[in-house]
Amino acid sequence: MRRKIVVGNWKMNKTVAESRELASGVLAALGTSCSACEVGLAPTFLALDTVRHVLEGSAVALAAQNCHYEDDGAYTGEVSAPMLQAVGCGYVILGHSERRQYFGETDETVNLRIKKVLEKGMKVILCVGETLEEREAGSFEAVVSSQVKGGLKDVAGVSDIVIAYEPVWAIGTGKTASSEQAQEVHAIIRRKVAELYGADAAEAIRIQYGGSVKPSNAAELFSMPDIDGGLIGGAALKADDFAAIVRAAC
Ligand code: PGA
Repeated sequence: MRRKIVVGNWKMNKTVAESRELASGVLAALGTSCSACEVGLAPTFLALDTVRHVLEGSAVALAAQNCHYEDDGAYTGEVSAPMLQAVGCGYVILGHSERRQYFGETDETVNLRIKKVLEKGMKVILCVGETLEEREAGSFEAVVSSQVKGGLKDVAGVSDIVIAYEPVWAIGTGKTASSEQAQEVHAIIRRKVAELYGADAAEAIRIQYGGSVKPSNAAELFSMPDIDGGLIGGAALKADDFAAIVRAAC
């Protein structure tokens, strides 16, 4: 039985003070009602330390939104895996479509980042997903399979990896994939993991859905057999909405 995982990806939102307030609000809204599922928050780099202090003593994990693949050096504007490890991150989101779309990240550089994050003992949330054109052309299976394969190239095992299926056309658009559309792709991803790592690894890996998840659609999405939680953007910026989504996964 896979334990569901719901992570709030705050993207480029909230000052440090606002992040402190939101993290406290999430803890208050969650209460002690849900321990069945794993929960994480991914604020901006700037707010990681502050949010870490808020989360101390709770079961909510700290997550980062990206990281560089070198330990340190002349990479102006970047943050490395050892820095994230030192600040207490348990997870790092990698390969988000916004990183691929706006910052030129590719399966190759995502793969380097994944290896670095695993080497530093943190877990990875690997994001994959097709664009609207790719869906309309019917190539989503090939696109998502090659993102999984390319991202995981030469990665020895997937026990510390969560995959997030996030169709680009559903991110921040209010347009959610139907639970059937999402389930279809989640099953494709699980089959791909089975091909690469065997049936046991595929059965164990958690695959989140992301893209306009809201309190009103979360329960249906999370009831699908291969959907193991969600990566939540917009709705994670409201403590009550995020908590309601977590409860839908419990
Ligand atoms: P959204 O974002 O929930 O705002 O669609 C999800 C994501 O990009 O992780």
